Order: sequence, then C-alpha cells, then structure tokens
Amino acid sequence: MSIRFDQEKFIIETKNTAYVFALYDHRFPVHLYYGSRQQEYSGEIPKHYRSFSPYYEKYGMVFSPDCALSECPFFGHGDFRTAAIKIRNQDGNSVTSFEYENYEIIKGRRTPNGLPFAEPDENTQTLIINMKDDLTGCKLSLFYTVFADADIITRSFTLQNQGTQTVKLEKAMSLTLDIEEGDFDYITLYGGHATERHYQREHVGFGMQSVCSRRGASSHQFNPFMAVCEHTADEDHGLVYGFNFVYSGSFLNEIEKDPNGRIRIQTGLGEENFGFLLAPSQTFDAPEAVMTCSQEGLNGMSVRFHRFIRQHILPKDPIIPRPVVLNTWEASYFDIDQEEMLRYAKAAADCGIDMLVMDDGWFGKRDDDTTSLGDWFVHKKKFPNGLAPLIRQIKETGLKFGIWIEPEMVNPHSELYQKHPEWCLQAPGRELLLSRHQLVLDFANPEVIDYLEDLFEQTLGDLDIDYIKWDMNRHMCSVASPALPAEQQDETSFRYMLGVYRLFRWFQNRFPQVMIENCSGGGGRYDLGMMKYSTQIWTSDMTGPKQRILIQHGSALAYPPCVMSCHVSDFDGLTSDPGKLDFAFRVATGGVLGYEMKLPDMPENVKETIAAQIQEYRRYESLIINGDFYRVHNPVDSPYYSYYFISPEKDELLAVCLKAEAGATEKLTMCFQVPEDARYIEEATGKEYTGRALKEGFSFETQPEANAYSLFHFTRIS
Ligand code: DGJ
Repeated sequence: MSIRFDQEKFIIETKNTAYVFALYDHRFPVHLYYGSRQQEYSGEIPKHYRSFSPYYEKYGMVFSPDCALSECPFFGHGDFRTAAIKIRNQDGNSVTSFEYENYEIIKGRRTPNGLPFAEPDENTQTLIINMKDDLTGCKLSLFYTVFADADIITRSFTLQNQGTQTVKLEKAMSLTLDIEEGDFDYITLYGGHATERHYQREHVGFGMQSVCSRRGASSHQFNPFMAVCEHTADEDHGLVYGFNFVYSGSFLNEIEKDPNGRIRIQTGLGEENFGFLLAPSQTFDAPEAVMTCSQEGLNGMSVRFHRFIRQHILPKDPIIPRPVVLNTWEASYFDIDQEEMLRYAKAAADCGIDMLVMDDGWFGKRDDDTTSLGDWFVHKKKFPNGLAPLIRQIKETGLKFGIWIEPEMVNPHSELYQKHPEWCLQAPGRELLLSRHQLVLDFANPEVIDYLEDLFEQTLGDLDIDYIKWDMNRHMCSVASPALPAEQQDETSFRYMLGVYRLFRWFQNRFPQVMIENCSGGGGRYDLGMMKYSTQIWTSDMTGPKQRILIQHGSALAYPPCVMSCHVSDFDGLTSDPGKLDFAFRVATGGVLGYEMKLPDMPENVKETIAAQIQEYRRYESLIINGDFYRVHNPVDSPYYSYYFISPEKDELLAVCLKAEAGATEKLTMCFQVPEDARYIEEATGKEYTGRALKEGFSFETQPEANAYSLFHFTRIS
C-alpha cells in the first residue's frame, strides 16, 4: 500500500521515500516530511507564530497560515509567501480560502483532460484531497499520484466551480513543497538557441528565486526542470529534491525562502501568462508536476527521473532498434529535390544508416524561410511526381523515410495566411511581430486544428512514412486569440497547448507506426509534455562537439539519454580531421546517434569511418537506450565530462571520459555503482576487476591532446 491515512497523517510511501502531511484541526493540510522512508513518522504539526502574521481567532497565536508548511497555499488570506492558487471571485477580489473536506484513495490515477500525463502501472495509486471554498462554491481536488517503484510522486489539481457565479482562476501552481529551514542550493537549466540547458547551481538565498518561460514554449532559455539540494550534496551524496512539469508552454518555477528560513518550492502555470474563467459547473484541470527525492545525491535524482520518464512518460518505441538517421538540414538546407534525396539515400544506405529524414523545404514554394509554412502540400518543382515514388525508391535502398513538419506556424507569404489571416495569434490594434518570417497559428481555435488534420491527411495519409520531425521555430507574443471572447483572452496560451497536444494525439493515432521526433529550433521544447508524444527530441542546433558537451550534460541531468537525439555533423569542417570526427562521434553517443552532413559528397575515408562508427554504436546502443546513466566528472567544474551507462541487471557497463581541450595528462578515478561481490572484465585490456574494486575507484591516465576520450567496456563474468 503506497498511501495510508494513519493517526491523522497522510503517509505516501515509494520504494525509498516517504511524503507525510497532516490536517490542522481537520481544516488545513500541513506538510510534515519528505525524505527517506522510515519505520515511523512522528512529526507533529509545529506551532509557529511570528509578529505581523495573521491568525484565526479560534486557534490564537499558535497557528498562522503565514508560518505553516502548507500543502496548498492560497492567495490573500494570511499567507504572505507566494501562493499556489488564486481565484478572482464574484465580488471582484482575489482573496481565496480553501478548507479540507474529505479524502479518497484510488487505484490508478485521474487523467487530466486533453493534457499529457504519466502513464500509470498496476501499482499506481492516487490520494485525492478535496477542499472547498464556501464563498465561491469552488471545489479544489489535490492529486498525489504515486509511482512507487520509480520513487516519484506527481501533483496536480482540478478546480470545479460548484457555485452559482463565474470565477476566474488567476494563478495555478500544480506542486507546492514547503520545507523547514536548511542550507540549500538550487539547480536550474538555462540557455538560448544553440546553448540549451546549461547547468546552473546557486545558493538558495532569502527571498524569491524563480525561473520561468513567458514564451508560450517551455523554451531554450529556462527548462521546467529544477532541483533543490543540500548545499553539500554532490553527484553521489546528499539530499536532493527534483521537480519537473508535464507541460510544454509557459511555466513558472518558484523558490521562496522566508526570513525564518523555510523554503517554499512551486511548479506550475504561474499567473503572468495564465488565467482561466470558470462558469458554474465548469472544471479546470491543471497540468501534472513531478517530484522525486534522493538521498544519493544528484545521480540518485537523475536515475529516478530517467527511469520514470522511460517507463511512464515516453511513448512505446515504434521502431526497434531506434534508427540511425541521416538528416538533410545542416548540409542542404532548402536545397533538396528528388535527385538530391536519392543521392543522400544511396550514400546513407552504403554506410549502414537506417533512415533518411527529409527536413525543411519539401512543401509549398519553400525555397527559403520566408514562405509557405501552412501550405502543407508537395513542392511541385522539386518533386514533380509527388513524394510517393520518391519514398518507394528510398525504401528500395533499404532505408526508412522521415519527414519534417512545422504545423503550428504560418508565413504571411502563404496561401493559408492569405485565406485565413484571422487564424494566427494576434492582439487587435497591435502590429504583428515576425520571428523567422513567421507567425503563430491560433491553436486555441479548434477550427485550425480541424483544418490541419484534414490537410495532413491529404498530404501524408497515403505515404509510407516512418518518422516525423515536428519543429516549432518561434516564440509567441501578442498571445491573443480572435476565436475567444474578450473575457477569456487570458486562456489563450493554455488553450493553445491543448490544441498542440490534440494534434499530436491525432498524428499518434493516425500514424501509429510512425516515430515522432520533437524539435523546436533545436531543443526549445525539451520537456515532459513533448516527451509524452515524442520518442526522442532534437537536442540542439549546436552540433559542435565541445559546445554540445555542456548541452548534453545539462539535458541528461533531468532527461534520459534515450530521448537525446545527437547528430554528427560537419561543424567547422570537422570531417576533414579524423580525430575530430571520432570525437564528434564519441560525444554523439552520449545519446541517440544520427548524422547530418552532405554524405554523398564526403570522401571515401569519411564514409568508411561513419560505417565503422555505426557498427560500434550498435554494440552499445541498448545500454545507451535502456541503461542507467551516472555522471562522474562534471564539465562545468572540470575539463572532463565523464559518465557511465550500466545495464539494469548490472552485467554490462560502458564508461566514457571526454576532454575537448588540450591539457596535461592526469590520473582520473571513476567510482561505479556495481555489486561488490560481482566480477567484471574490461574488454580492451582483458583485465579482471572485482565489483568492490570498481566501486572504490577505477583509475586511468587521460590523454594530453584536445578532443581526447577514454572508453572502458566492462562485462560481468560472475
Ligand atoms: C530548426 C531545427 O532545429 C533544424 O534542425 C531544422 O529542422 C530547421 N529548423 C528547419 O527549418
């Protein structure tokens, strides 16, 4: 039993962790504990009060909403810290107050309407705490869904207007975790286009610390992942809380340390880019937020997240093994046609590549990026016979076929925009701002989605495609929908995402054999919402190996290597240097390998190298896709990025150490989490090691030159 109500406490247990809260006077859920699983949870609700903190007369100065560790802080009624729920009521004010009504424990989970969510398994349970605001008649249900084997608890809520007047939800945070005083750091991932998800670790200071996206996409700039850890925690030691959000639009992550040292952590839609009107009997479902707790440092957190994402978020792999793709973009850009595609196909097949992906440029009059988004029909000049014969010929070479789309966008220079200028996001009276010459379609308008479903059915319905790369190349401003009434304009951003998810589900159902790879100008929507529908995600438009290391390091902190699409390209002409080409391959095999270069024009020795690389990758592929991933040396603080993959059965281990810059030879040590009584053999040297020795530390000498790597492959022999 993962969830129980025991001696007035709600106790949620996972394999290694426990989460405990109680009810203050049967009225307010107050947090008590989140940490390692224990025999007993003896915590009492602390009696806190401080000057200037409001209190209920009934309890006197021993209980103030401002001092309690709250499971559901609401706005404007005694808690001065940041709120999770804010509702504007019929009187026009936003003072909000919910009180506990009852609880339910259900098997499985409640699925949020239209939103992505973590798939339950046979052990999944959900605790529902029902609360009521008497004034508005709103019922708030807090969900705690437990994935016990994965050590994950997810949080979300629904708000049901059971009153007689319309209300407006003005702030929606799906997860709140209040913790007692402590010396904590927080870790977030920041960046930009081509510098996504760089690691940042800061001390949690007094006051408000937050990261967010106001861009309508989870964004390159800040990722929804966040960790809060003990100041002393490192990769393998210390308490770490990890958080994430199953959503792909604007979000807000908050950490507030009050002057008494207590810390409130929140994840959700926030308030700046969100509002939702609820008429009587209407319900709002909030997206799901995810949390985990590790006493085994950052690796403990990452491994838990990775397993959870593999088992409960990602779709089942439609193609096994995952295809090694050759993508046309970085070498040909818009300059593709029937003949060029066949040249690519022949060269790819000769090298042992599995799939050719035709990127941007195959539709409308798309000869550059100024035109044709929205016109999803075949570019007649480039493909006079259509795509079906081309795909047939590509398949004759033994390759699979993938195609690029960007359904959410429209160029003003397009037939679609000429016909339906009212179908893009726009604020009346405001100039339309372009980004990459494009505008954003109004996915909050169901008519737009209907239209796109019909159009893609006509264009792709009869084609033998195996893979779709779904791109999204601009962020949203003037977020207003001509299809919504004035009082619902704040819903646009959220409704837009519901439209996006609807279209993803249409593609998934219509093309169940097709693997979707997500992309947003590189990795601008690298989030759990997209991962629900996409087997893998294009990590970044940056394919320079040195720069990639930081991107891959940050990405793998929160997301498993099996979603991380990594291509070897001809960045800076690296294919002409065998050492650099080798290093680019080593970096790319930190995730799912692919290629992105003008392969038909590459010299024979490069083609041979690539063929050999693919063969080598095949040997380790299942470890990379299904294994656990542990970091050892962090590229932010050291010249090395070292990590290892280990199979779930711990019978195979691949350790890698990458070094982009030249530097003196050093002796490095990597400690592996292996069973002490096991014995392993290292492939290259044939040397045998006990598990205990590998746990205590495996040492090796680094190479002095730039673009150097060390690789060790261990197999268990007993
Ligand atoms: C941005 C993507 O990140 C690239 O890989 C490529 O697909 C281009 N868009 C195409 O316009």
